[in-house]
Amino acid sequence: MKYALIGCGRIAVNHVKAVVNNKLEFIAACDLVPENIDILFDKTNYADRDKVERYTDYKTMVDEHPELELVAIATSSGDHAKIALYCIDHGINVIIEKPMAMSMADAEEIIKRSEAKGVKVSACHQNRFNIAVQQMRKALEAGRFGKLSHGSIHVRWNRNKDYYDQAPWRGTWAEDGGCLMNQCIHGIDLLRWMMGNEVDSVYGVTRQQQHPYLEAEDIGMAVVTFKNGAVATIEGTTNVYPKNLEETLYLFGENGTVKLGGKSTNNIDVWDFADETDADQKNKGLEEATSNVYGNGHTSLYADVMDAIKNNRKPYVDAVAGRNALEMILSIYKSVKTGQPVKLPLEDFASVDMIGEFNNG
Ligand SMILES: NC(=O)c1ccc[n+]([C@@H]2O[C@H](COP(=O)([O-])OP(=O)(O)OC[C@H]3O[C@@H](n4cnc5c(N)ncnc54)[C@H](O)[C@@H]3O)[C@@H](O)[C@H]2O)c1
Repeated sequence: MKYALIGCGRIAVNHVKAVVNNKLEFIAACDLVPENIDILFDKTNYADRDKVERYTDYKTMVDEHPELELVAIATSSGDHAKIALYCIDHGINVIIEKPMAMSMADAEEIIKRSEAKGVKVSACHQNRFNIAVQQMRKALEAGRFGKLSHGSIHVRWNRNKDYYDQAPWRGTWAEDGGCLMNQCIHGIDLLRWMMGNEVDSVYGVTRQQQHPYLEAEDIGMAVVTFKNGAVATIEGTTNVYPKNLEETLYLFGENGTVKLGGKSTNNIDVWDFADETDADQKNKGLEEATSNVYGNGHTSLYADVMDAIKNNRKPYVDAVAGRNALEMILSIYKSVKTGQPVKLPLEDFASVDMIGEFNNG
C-alpha cells in the first residue's frame, strides 16, 4: 500500500515504526523544514530512505502522487484539518494525528467529505489499542460492569519550558490548545468511548498555573453527565512535579470496578468483577511495557486502517471518534468561557474562540 507522511517531527518516529511493522510502501515525505525528514530517518534508522521522495509542500506531493493510498498527517495540530481535507478531496485515505481538527466545523467537514468521497479517515487515538484498554472494552461490551455508575480520567503529566520551547506552535490557541487538547485528549477519548458516547453536558474549569509563557491552560477539570445516567470527572494537567506521574482511567459499574494505570493507561491496577473466573487472573496486575507515554498503539492503528481500506469497512477509530474527543475538549473550553455547563452536541466552537482567556493570548 503506497504511503506518505506529512509532518516529520517528534511523533513521526512512531509513524515510521508503524510503517516498517506494517510493510507499507513509503513513497513520499513532506515537511516545511526539509532537514527534519533526514533527522527522522536517522532517528528511526529507516533503511529505504532513498525510495522516499521529499517535499516541503503537501499539495505538490499529493498532486504529483495520485497513486497514494494512505497519508498520515503529523504536523502541528492547527494544520491537520486543511491537509486532511486536501487529501480526502483527492481520494486518499488518511490517518490524522490528534486532535483531528481544532474546530467543530472542520471536524464535521472531514466527516462529511470523507463519507461523500468513500475515503477512510482514522483519528490517531492509538491508546485504544493498549492491551489494558482492550481488556476493559471487552469486559464492557460483554456487559460485565452492569449499569455504569461513574468513571474518571486523571492525566497527571509534566511538560516543562524546554518542551514548550521546542516549537512555537505549542500552547497556542490556533495551533495546539492547552494540556486538555494536546496531552489529555487520549484519556478523554477513552473515558467518553467507555462511558457510552452519549454525553448530556460538560462543565469545565481551567487555569494557567505554571506556564505563563503559553496562551492556553495547563490544568483542566470537568464534570460530565451522560445520557445513560452515569457521571464522570476529568482531571488533566502538565503541572506535575517533577515528571509524568500517571494516566489513570477508572470505570465503576454495579458489578465491576477497573482501574487502568501506568503512565498512559497501559497497566491494569484493579480488575474486580462479580462474575470473576480463572481467566480474569491474567488481567490482574497486567503491565504493557512502553518506551514512552505514546505507547505501542500506532502499529495496531495502522494495521487496522490498512485492513479497513482493503475490506471497505470503517476504521476502529474513525473520524466520528476524532470528532467526539474534540467535542469534549471544546465543550470544556466553551464552559470555561461562558461559566455555564454546556449541553451536547456542541454546534460550533473552535479553540481560537478562547483567544484572550489567559494573559498571553
Ligand atoms: N498520538 C500521540 O500520542 C501524539 C503524540 C505527540 C504528538 N501528537 C500530535 O502530533 C502532531 C505533531 O506533534 P509533534 O510533537 O511531532 O510536533 P513537532 O513540532 O515535533 O513536529 C511537527 C512537524 O510538522 C512540520 N510541519 C508543520 N506544519 C507543516 C505543514 N503544513 N506541512 C508539512 N510539514 C509541516 C514541522 O516542520 C515539524 O517538523 C501534533 O498534532 C500533536 O498533537 C500525537
